[in-house]
Amino acid sequence: MSRTYNIVTFGCQMNERDSETLAGMLEEMGYEYCSDFKEADVCVLNTCSVREHADKRFYGVLGQLKNPHEQDPGRIVCVCGCMMQQQVHIDTLKAKYPWVDIVFGTHNIADFPRMFRNAAEEHQKIVEVWKDAGPIAEGLPAKREYPFKAYVSIMQGCNNFCTYCIVPYTRGRERSRAPEQVLAEIRQLAESGTKEIMLLGQNVNSYAGVDETGQTVTFPQLLRMIDRIDGIERVRFMTSHPKDLSDDLIGCFAELKHLCRQIHLPVQAGSDRILKAMNRHYDSAHYLLLIDKLRAACPEIAISTDIIVGFPGETEEDFLATVDLVKKVRYDSAFTFIYSVRRGTPAEKMTDQVPEEIKHQRFDRLLKAIHSIQEEKSAEYQDAVLPVLVEGFSKTDPSVLTGRTESNKTVDFTVRPDAAAAKDISCPADLIGQIIPVKIVKAQTFSLYGETV
Ligand code: 5AD
Ligand code: SF4
Repeated sequence: MSRTYNIVTFGCQMNERDSETLAGMLEEMGYEYCSDFKEADVCVLNTCSVREHADKRFYGVLGQLKNPHEQDPGRIVCVCGCMMQQQVHIDTLKAKYPWVDIVFGTHNIADFPRMFRNAAEEHQKIVEVWKDAGPIAEGLPAKREYPFKAYVSIMQGCNNFCTYCIVPYTRGRERSRAPEQVLAEIRQLAESGTKEIMLLGQNVNSYAGVDETGQTVTFPQLLRMIDRIDGIERVRFMTSHPKDLSDDLIGCFAELKHLCRQIHLPVQAGSDRILKAMNRHYDSAHYLLLIDKLRAACPEIAISTDIIVGFPGETEEDFLATVDLVKKVRYDSAFTFIYSVRRGTPAEKMTDQVPEEIKHQRFDRLLKAIHSIQEEKSAEYQDAVLPVLVEGFSKTDPSVLTGRTESNKTVDFTVRPDAAAAKDISCPADLIGQIIPVKIVKAQTFSLYGETV
């Protein structure tokens, strides 16, 4: 009987991308995917430390592996990711979770096969966490979720040290992949049928890859090279720091054929005082100027953001400045977070922490403002015909297909029988992986419903 694995991924797209590498490695070692993490012979938990909520969820899932381990001590449990870059969590695992076999960090993923073999064959417990990042490992395998869209990491780490954020401490300083490596990976993906790529980095705007001739390539230059790769029809990127969003990059939205008209531009707060305390290096006026420039270059661009409420010292007035900014920008969507104290960050030491109750109240008020704008913006899609990359069948209704618009909105849609006959679509599954026009027949705040045309 074949041996199986499962990976539980917490957190951001970087972690998802790392999990794809780990899955690729496990498959090369002969393991098959199993959908239940409690049943799998090998379970990897890839952790996130950006907010306390993710820490708690991780310990909850890890606790659920206790019984499976007691039933079959041969099961291997591996824990990796951002939390493991913090000694406090390694100590907790050693003291309280004896069913963990391998612990490693964000910097030594390339070494996973060796650690894994030692644990599996020699029944060793392994804890190996590198404090510092080495050069970016190239040529690692990857098992990707979809054959038609892929994450491509272009850089790792972050140099920005926003005062609330743990990432620079867990993922180290910025390192950019060589442009040749990025381009080779994308060409290979295009040859195997990938149509859409999402370029990943904590702040892709500061990409600075050095090419074979020793020249530094900027992010807009890299985008122009990617735009010319045959077969890639959609290019997206995330995340962008507003302080590094150059006019050159903004111009790419008007210039490049395959760059999706969509940007995720985290603002974090609308109050200049709070932005300064967050160490963000821009003020609200600068941010709004960027939004104007983006819309001038590309009027239909969809803009999304991240916002934190309840940062230490945030007054009612500061909070209202955030609501005001949200109303000015009119985001297509926004991820909102309640400030969560992260050990070791400068904001942890700030004395004027906002009481939980006020944080929650502000969070609810902000959400209301965002949703009412989103509702109005979503209504603009009514009756529009949009190109949709078909991803598969809806999880809730297998007779309905689901896909994504250029602005990265999910659309559930049906194949009209007359359209099916006219286009000789005998099986809707054949549409998966294709970009097809879909007419939006119902536009709701969070979801679009359509039919093929
Ligand atoms: N508390 C709340 N939200 C945070 N983020 C990062 N650190 C924290 C924190 N300590 C949010 C930011 C970031 C997103 C990925 O997570 O908005 O852009
Ligand atoms: Fe964290 Fe700021 Fe870096 Fe984003 S830019 S990962 S919020 S430190």
